[in-house]
Amino acid sequence: MATHTCTTFSSVLLLLFIFSAANFAPVTSSDHTYEYLLSSQPFSHTTVEKQSHFRFYWHDIVTGPNPTAVRVAEAPGTNTSSTFFGMVVVIDDPLTIGPDVNSKLVGRAQGLYAAAGIKKIEALMAMNFVLTDGKYNGSTIAILGHNEVLSEVREMPIVGGSRLFRFARGYVQAHTYSFNMTSGDAVVEYNVFVNHY
Ligand SMILES: *[C@@H]1O[C@H](CO)[C@@H](O)[C@H](O)[C@H]1NC(C)=O
Ligand SMILES: *[C@@H]1O[C@H](CO)[C@@H](O)[C@H](O)[C@H]1NC(C)=O
Ligand SMILES: *[C@@H]1O[C@H](CO)[C@@H](O)[C@H](O)[C@H]1NC(C)=O
Repeated sequence: MATHTCTTFSSVLLLLFIFSAANFAPVTSSDHTYEYLLSSQPFSHTTVEKQSHFRFYWHDIVTGPNPTAVRVAEAPGTNTSSTFFGMVVVIDDPLTIGPDVNSKLVGRAQGLYAAAGIKKIEALMAMNFVLTDGKYNGSTIAILGHNEVLSEVREMPIVGGSRLFRFARGYVQAHTYSFNMTSGDAVVEYNVFVNHY
């Protein structure tokens, strides 16, 4: 009886071994080979995730000889809409360290915004903060979000990033620093809270 129990126990162990070995089998040993899959393995980070807080001033220059924000599309009703509904603007806006456009340039905000609100001035923002300074040169932070332009602080998600910001996540808070009613130019303070490795 004791021998029988022991044998059963060994069989269970053997089955467990086979079962776990199958779990760790390479992908190519299954019924299908994915020759375009070069590797698939547990992912571990060598350093802990950190959160960086940056403050940039975003300059949306819509008029003058060198605009950085250009209207590329509109709906038939955009010009008569109180919210510019349907307007699409492509931007390459300077990001500086201070509210003065002539302060140190550390990157550009490239992408677009679309007037997406019928009743309120609300924009869909889709832009990359393309940094150019020091070790951040060439790294980008991707922002995609809802911007209710006239509210005091607008929060938008960071949906990813490149190079130093690989696997980035986080959020930005935008606050209008100044708006020139005559020219339409705006300076917006962006506080960027980005988690990365
Ligand atoms: C709407 O206004 C913009 C800016 O003033 C102008 O460039 C555009 O031609 C106007 N579009 C229409 C359809 O009137
Ligand atoms: C950023 O990198 C580019 C490409 O390597 C280089 O040409 C440029 O001078 C760098 N800019 C700054 C401000 O370091
Ligand atoms: C606002 O824009 C107008 C027209 O471009 C310009 O003359 C004026 O100096 C600007 N105001 C400020 C405070 O920058």
